[in-house]
Amino acid sequence: MDYATFELAPAERKDILRLVHIYFLAYLPDNLFRLRVSNLTEFEKGMTKILENQVGKPTWRHVKVVNKKTGVLAAWASWNTPTDAQIRERDEKAAAKIADSEEGKGKGELDIFPAISNYVQADIDRWHGQCTSGKRHMLCEALFTEPSFQRQGMGSALVKYGSQLADQANLLIFLQASAIGYPIYAKHGSETDQYLDVDLREWVPGGKSNDKGYGNYRYRYMLRLP
Ligand SMILES: CC(C)(COP(=O)(O)OP(=O)(O)OC[C@H]1O[C@@H](n2cnc3c(N)ncnc32)[C@H](O)[C@@H]1OP(=O)(O)O)[C@@H](O)C(=O)NCCC(=O)NCCS
Repeated sequence: MDYATFELAPAERKDILRLVHIYFLAYLPDNLFRLRVSNLTEFEKGMTKILENQVGKPTWRHVKVVNKKTGVLAAWASWNTPTDAQIRERDEKAAAKIADSEEGKGKGELDIFPAISNYVQADIDRWHGQCTSGKRHMLCEALFTEPSFQRQGMGSALVKYGSQLADQANLLIFLQASAIGYPIYAKHGSETDQYLDVDLREWVPGGKSNDKGYGNYRYRYMLRLP
């Protein structure tokens, strides 16, 4: 990243709409994301609400990359450091959630997501729980660069920033990595602990008989140890 032109700064509430916009612009080419989100308008509304509940809270850190001259926000990432009480509560809820998902009733964070989202979210929750049960940790929850700014090192700069945060606090990082995202995390010390292979053709109407360009998607659960 060209630090003469761009800088990292805390994201603020006034940035939320731009953060959501970058989220879906960056993620649209991702086959799993496209299947998980059936309605972009609803997605935008839901994500806005989620970010309004997070930005500025003491357990959250939202960081943006901005052009120093123009103020254009080009990329962002977020990390969550749950409190001990939140980890305990999460651990207690985990068993019930797994039972739910085994009955096919698991729910993603946003109700608008179709069945594949519930399936993937239940798996994320399961591994998150298993990898971090009772342990203080950080979660990397978002990493997005607006497509016109990609491949200039902003993603790497944000991952490096998060790694430094974790090192300072002596915390492990848990994250689930997209197909495009995982090499950046691997470069900064995260290792794949588990993965979920999803045959996306099974989730697309007519996907099995017609070639609609969907195939296997590997979702990686990664850990970066302190
Ligand atoms: C992942 C993402 C944040 C990377 O952002 P970025 O600002 O382009 O990152 P960088 O410029 O630091 O590139 C990091 C590495 O990823 C590679 N890379 C970036 N975009 C890529 C793409 N679309 N396809 C293949 N490789 C890509 C770069 O070549 C670079 O590798 P290198 O260091 O070996 O050259 C961005 O591609 C994105 O927003 N993707 C969609 C959302 C997503 O998958 N987020 C990760 C969630 S886990």
